Amino acid sequence: QNEIYLAGLGDVLPGFPTDLTKLEDAARDVLSARAFGYVAGSAGSERTARFNREAFDRWRIVPRLLRDVSVRDLSVEVFGQRMPAPVLLAPLGVQSILHADGERATARAAAALGLTSVLSTASSTALEDVAEAAGTGPRWYQLYWPKSRELAASLVARAEAAGYQALVVTLDTFTLAWRPRDLDGAYLPFLRAVGVQNYFSDPVFQAMVGGPVTDANRDAALLTWVGQFGNPALTWDDLAWLRERWSGPIVLKGVQHPDDARRAAAAGMDGVVVSNHGGRQVDGAVASLDALPVVAEAVGDRLTVLFDSGIRTGSDVIKALALGARAVLVGRPFAYGLALGGEAGVRHVLRSLLADLDLTLALAGLTGPGDLGPDTLVRA
Ligand code: FNR
Repeated sequence: QNEIYLAGLGDVLPGFPTDLTKLEDAARDVLSARAFGYVAGSAGSERTARFNREAFDRWRIVPRLLRDVSVRDLSVEVFGQRMPAPVLLAPLGVQSILHADGERATARAAAALGLTSVLSTASSTALEDVAEAAGTGPRWYQLYWPKSRELAASLVARAEAAGYQALVVTLDTFTLAWRPRDLDGAYLPFLRAVGVQNYFSDPVFQAMVGGPVTDANRDAALLTWVGQFGNPALTWDDLAWLRERWSGPIVLKGVQHPDDARRAAAAGMDGVVVSNHGGRQVDGAVASLDALPVVAEAVGDRLTVLFDSGIRTGSDVIKALALGARAVLVGRPFAYGLALGGEAGVRHVLRSLLADLDLTLALAGLTGPGDLGPDTLVRA
């Protein structure tokens, strides 16, 4: 608290709001309309992104008094690893659209705070280069399962060799949704400028496009990438193939239904992320926070339940944990931080979120995630 109120937050960047709900407006001023639309946009009418936020308002924290909260500990254990706070950085593709330092800046900011960053398969930087930027920082890898099994196997093997500790398999995006802002922004030429180096650097991908990606075959490479990107034919049976290829924890991202969570447990998975991709896939889908307690109830004793979609404040983190999540992933806020100030911008966003979480937790009469449960909240 002394650090926050006497010394200030530090790293305060010009035009950089401490209120993370105002980041979107600040980022709009520094990004091109296309780049801004890529981050801010959601599926269809964008109502599910709105539902995600509104769902937090239906739960209210009930503060408790006189409980000695002078010593607090935000840390949680996930897959046997102690995380300093219950917050991870969600996988976000092609971050070079937002800042020249892209995924490297994000990895460095996360590592500086000991937070786990999840790298997207659709990274504009090769996963090995991001691992180098992260140094000893904890890192997970997110798989978009391509159509070619050979390519999937190569991506996964590279991630394991580069020291990524867990595999997050995103299942809600086997094809991109109807996203009006991306469609208006003519997505493909836009991607041409930054490239999708994580695919372009892959040996199996290069074999598909006849060698290393150069200016001469760049358009063909982009089309190959689009063709490979998602695999709508996947079924639960395919998970056994993946389970054999990854020795660490596997987490399924995009789970919204308790039966899917139960099937994940039956398939030998280690965790789920209750997520609707920040409202970017199924327009009109249930708010992610509304899906959380049902999933936690179904599998919380067998799987690690993580949550994302709509986290903006410390109180949001508290609500998600009270409703059954072990930890949360945050998406757009750090993307806006990256756009506004590169590595320092991401660090500012993360530090602000953690400081807000620490203060709000204490003022609610709680000393750490272990104190959180159903009696922390009432339904409004
Ligand atoms: C995403 N998301 C995402 N998810 C994923 O598994 N792989 C990816 O490459 C991406 N890319 C991506 C880009 C952008 C710009 C956004 C905003 C989101 C979804 C992301 O991991 C996460 O589920 C949501 O961002 C969480 O919602 P909030 O925090 O943005 O509301």
